[in-house]
Amino acid sequence: MGLRTIEELCAELDEKRRSALDGGGKEAIEKQKAKGKATARERIAQLLDPGSFVEIDEFVTHRCSSFGLEDRKPLGDGVITGWGTVEGRKVFVFSQDFTVFGGSLGEKHAEKICKVMDMAMQMGCPVIGMYDSGGARIQEGTDALNGYGKIFKRNTLASGVIPQFSAILGPTAGGAVYSPALTDYVFMVDGESVMHITGPEVVKAVTGEAISAQDLGGAKAHHTVSGVAHFEAKDEAECFAQIRKVLSYLPLNNLDDAPFKATADSPERADITLREIVPVNPNKSYDVHEVISRVVDDGEFTEVQAGWAKNIVIGYARFGGRAVGIVANNADVLAGCLDIDASDKASRFVRHCDAFNLPIITFVDVPGYLPGADQEHNGIIRQGAKLLYAYSEASVPLVSVVLRKAYGGAYIAMSSKALGCDAAFAWPQAEIAVLGAEGAASIVFKNEINAAADPSAKRLEKIDEYKAEFANPYRAAERGYIDNVIMPEETRKAIFTALEAMESKRETRPAKKHGVIPH
Ligand code: HXC
Repeated sequence: MGLRTIEELCAELDEKRRSALDGGGKEAIEKQKAKGKATARERIAQLLDPGSFVEIDEFVTHRCSSFGLEDRKPLGDGVITGWGTVEGRKVFVFSQDFTVFGGSLGEKHAEKICKVMDMAMQMGCPVIGMYDSGGARIQEGTDALNGYGKIFKRNTLASGVIPQFSAILGPTAGGAVYSPALTDYVFMVDGESVMHITGPEVVKAVTGEAISAQDLGGAKAHHTVSGVAHFEAKDEAECFAQIRKVLSYLPLNNLDDAPFKATADSPERADITLREIVPVNPNKSYDVHEVISRVVDDGEFTEVQAGWAKNIVIGYARFGGRAVGIVANNADVLAGCLDIDASDKASRFVRHCDAFNLPIITFVDVPGYLPGADQEHNGIIRQGAKLLYAYSEASVPLVSVVLRKAYGGAYIAMSSKALGCDAAFAWPQAEIAVLGAEGAASIVFKNEINAAADPSAKRLEKIDEYKAEFANPYRAAERGYIDNVIMPEETRKAIFTALEAMESKRETRPAKKHGVIPH
């Protein structure tokens, strides 16, 4: 063969590129479309800024020579990788291509993912994975399993250094679900995404239980029952919009600043309706979202895990253009009690915010921990301890506002001064005490009540006495456990000015390898 011309060489490259673009072939692409799913490259194009995607490793192929794979070597090996931008900010991406061996993960497929993860870590940029896969490529055996292990290791090392997001856009099964679980957030699409360790067939064979894949591991199940999915979308477009939105609050890495979003909303804005939102009567409920939306910039709050453990609300907002994390008890659900799921949900979010240097604003209205054998036997002691650990460990600015009840251990857990809160405010109707007045009076004055001629009248009298003494914010304020008692309408300004004052906060900790968080 003589020397080929540059035209011939370019034509060869062109042909290879076309072949890579073909993925698993026209028929497989049609099958993918028939399921209402976009292709791996279309998904990347929808997520990133138009025209920003740069693909790498287009020509990678597997080197498996078993079960006929030696004759099938599609270019790219079932995953599209590279980088691009979201709102002009660089991110690294990978997107599994179901049309190639069902998006299954083999040695080279895993290496491609590891390469973009390594680059994302080195460049200090988020990494977003799009999953659509039959799991470990069965023909590649332990090479596939080893590939997963290498990804898990990278997920863990990148945790708290760069934001990592997982969009589940098809099946993910077996141990493969653990890479998404190791990332900051799992996004799922209703009716399309499935995540489970063992599928419906195995469940049926082992336990006899008949359940559909969606009921077992669909977006609804994981968003409302297990808490595995942090976001649920009605379709892929909404899922990508959610990812872009969440990215807008986060720095590119743990040493970077979160993006500033200019606002015309004055920090001085005083919303007098806040006086009516939280009823003074502690037995009446309200929705804490109403409080949050009235104090943050432009009423804009982006909730995380909105469908699960609704007795606590977590999410992102801004004050004066700067991103913060919000944690709030929700009196509307279980009276805002802390339970296992709420502690789990809030503690992870506190650690996430701390890792990425977002100040944390905590709205407190908590009657205590949820009582019951179920809670005790499932470990509320160790699970609830996570929240104490997370707040105590956090070194970002911490601001709290006691809206109403703050009782006992739950008060201490919810960003109390003792755990390191920098600015603790309370509203005039706040009740900060060891117990609610009814419970407290019945215990402390038990003998006196029982000995009275009319015990129930005596009990009411003692409840009133205890209320007058403790059902207010001033006992705590006298001791400095509350820095200031504020009018409800002063909340936005108080938080804003506190955040300004805390901007230069620096905290040093004793050197250690790492702590041992309760689990
Ligand atoms: C190799 C696979 C594959 C796999 C699917 N394919 N999964 N090839 N390894 N794991 C191939 C199919 O053979 C088929 O190839 C093509 O992908 C499309 O698959 P279909 O079955 O036709 O698609 P569909 O009906 O939509 O079903 C999708 C599916 C099903 C639910 C994902 O394919 C399935 O159950 N696959 C196996 C899932 C599984 O058990 N994986 C191992 C999990 S354990 P052709 O050539 O016919 O088009 C695991 C361990 C990880 O992942 C451990 C980490 C530590």
